[in-house]
Amino acid sequence: MSAERIEDIAKAMVMPGQGILAADESTGTIKKRFDSINVENTEENRRDYREMLFRAGIAMNERISGVIMFEETLYQKAADGTPFVDLIRAAGAVPGIKVDKGAQALAGRSGETITEGLDGLRDRLKAYHEAGARFAKWRAVISINDILPTTGAIKANTHALARYAALCQEAGIVPIVEPEVQMDADPADHTIERCHEVTDEVLRVLFNELHEQNVKLEGIILKPNMVIAGSKCSKQNTPDEVAAHTVAVLKRNVPSAVPGIAFLSGGQSDVEATANLAAMNANYDLPWSLTYSYGRALQAAALNAWRGKAEQVAAAQEAFTHRAKMNGLAAKGEWNEAMENA
Ligand code: 13P
Repeated sequence: MSAERIEDIAKAMVMPGQGILAADESTGTIKKRFDSINVENTEENRRDYREMLFRAGIAMNERISGVIMFEETLYQKAADGTPFVDLIRAAGAVPGIKVDKGAQALAGRSGETITEGLDGLRDRLKAYHEAGARFAKWRAVISINDILPTTGAIKANTHALARYAALCQEAGIVPIVEPEVQMDADPADHTIERCHEVTDEVLRVLFNELHEQNVKLEGIILKPNMVIAGSKCSKQNTPDEVAAHTVAVLKRNVPSAVPGIAFLSGGQSDVEATANLAAMNANYDLPWSLTYSYGRALQAAALNAWRGKAEQVAAAQEAFTHRAKMNGLAAKGEWNEAMENA
């Protein structure tokens, strides 16, 4: 990877038909994933699991433009001693790092959080850059129900995102700016219209904050939620409806200087996340590249196939490759459901 201007790195991260693998589960979050397949959460198992993904040749070479890692993974080596950063680069993908320190209860509020990690971030970014990271991720969590989020929580979280983004750019690192309006945190019964309203407000405040912190929009990737009903809402929507709401909100709030928007999957099933992305790219003329930065929706099938067994690595890589290919096609608007079983 020779591109070093943040604008060029950002463009490479959203190149046509490719997207980002979010493999940055913290040690606590990967434990939940491993518990579901009865695998012990050891450093070696975490390495083996990530190595399985990063060595899935076709997926990595053709469909994955960047990989988000947890700090441990950034410095980890494959079983044969090859640094993961080198494996990722050799596949033509950009190595990235989650730099936030997680969401903590926001003082004086009930049910809302603030993402921490700004103190000392300048020095950490310098070290991550030396270790090979060329993009970073920070996730702000926005609660949603009839009353939440409060203006105060939106303001605090988007301000932190903007401060983080400015520090990243100073360090030559592309910030993935991720404000997540949650779809499956309790009560998760909100309608798509309520998600539309909240996402619209969050993005409006966010871009104002980015402007105030002098963040260069050409050198960021936005990672939003899709505009979608809560997972427990009695009315779920079709991909065309999700696409219409999501595109409307994005067009209203995201300047065309932003090179790309890479969605989180947020608890959608893997095929649902693909179908919704495909509907946007197939039906709309968009000023930015619209792609995926999925964690669960790219990994769930592979995790279930793997189950911690060396003899299952090929099957797990095949499952990951299939999902990556389906999402790559969705990012070009070329996916249809029949391809899932082809
Ligand atoms: P999901 O796609 O599983 O929501 O994860 C993406 C991510 O990186 C959340 O921060």
